[in-house]
Amino acid sequence: MSDDKTPATRPANPRFSSGPCAKPPAFSLDKLADAPLGRSHRAAIGKAKLKQAIDDTREVLGIPDEYRIGIVPGSDTGAFEMAMWTMLGQRPVEMVAWESFGAGWVTDAVKQLKLDANVHEAEYGQIVDLAALDWSRDVCFTWNGTTSGVRVPSGDVIPADREGLTLCDATSAAFAQDLPWEKLDVTTFSWQKVLGGEAAHGMLILSPRAVERLESYTPAWPLPKIFRLTKGGKINEGIFKGETINTPSMLAVEDYLQALAWAKAEGGLTGLMARADANFAVVDRFVAENDWIAFLAQTPEIRSNTSVCLKFTDPAIIDGAAFAKAVAKRLDTEGVAYDIGAYRDAPAGLRIWCGSTVETSDLKALMPWIDWAYRAELAAQAKAA
Ligand SMILES: Cc1ncc(COP(=O)(O)O)c(C=O)c1O
Repeated sequence: MSDDKTPATRPANPRFSSGPCAKPPAFSLDKLADAPLGRSHRAAIGKAKLKQAIDDTREVLGIPDEYRIGIVPGSDTGAFEMAMWTMLGQRPVEMVAWESFGAGWVTDAVKQLKLDANVHEAEYGQIVDLAALDWSRDVCFTWNGTTSGVRVPSGDVIPADREGLTLCDATSAAFAQDLPWEKLDVTTFSWQKVLGGEAAHGMLILSPRAVERLESYTPAWPLPKIFRLTKGGKINEGIFKGETINTPSMLAVEDYLQALAWAKAEGGLTGLMARADANFAVVDRFVAENDWIAFLAQTPEIRSNTSVCLKFTDPAIIDGAAFAKAVAKRLDTEGVAYDIGAYRDAPAGLRIWCGSTVETSDLKALMPWIDWAYRAELAAQAKAA
């Protein structure tokens, strides 16, 4: 391919953002016509929709019956901070971070809650050795680091007989990666990620041990209404049946229900994981074939199949950050890839969402465009020099 000739095929859908992520392939607004708009979420119809969202989540993700699933305000951030604020402080905590979002939870624990915390951090592209953690403490970690493309390879290192609780931010993993529920006491995610739902609503999944903590421990700090999960010292069961703490968007609920219906039609979790894996494989092949681009995640076992982060490695590139930005802009201007610049706090590069709602054919179509944009930018750099 010559430097100035654009590839013949364009992705049918150029949406490769890491959140909000692409809608399921067959999405159209008509599919939300059944939303009970203008009705109370406490009316039978509203409650039934919310309960259905919880039941379908359990079915698709294979969440054990004895785990509680709640829809809470504030997206994934709301769900995770609700867990931190209500459960932490009973014992010391291990705070684990290898990218920006994990680092945000470290700030919460150290600067806001002022917990007795051991902080374990790794550079972008690497992961903390989870086997070295003290699991008698509570442990907060992110399953899939969205801004570095580094994920936990397996939950095997988490002891089944741990004394502490595990709090896992799984927002860019749920529905694309296998989560070991028996090893996770608190799991959170947002609808806006792997299923391409809407933001602002978070999912909070609690093991029986997490519930036990809530019922046996009262934090030293006050809790706003929006964080309160207990009533009179007992878990507020209503929240886990769809009686939300405050008013949800019934349009967003309908949208999530549609996404779950699509997920079931794709073969449930197995089908969704296969889609993300096939998407990742396209990028993996492209990286293997080109010596000027590499994964940010250093080793194959920690590479994410959702938020795939790449860096340019060509020594001819003069200003890495400017180059990566210019490539992303070129692709955006061409209308072939939106929002694929690296996260603002992450090393320069590209981040391509490969989650389950993205079509493999679109990723296949995108790869030659990345090659094209890289060459075009190199040429522009040479001209400017
Ligand atoms: C790992 C991780 N945690 C937390 C968040 C924040 O999610 P939300 O904006 O849905 O609260 C994100 C968003 O990208 C994320 O990727």
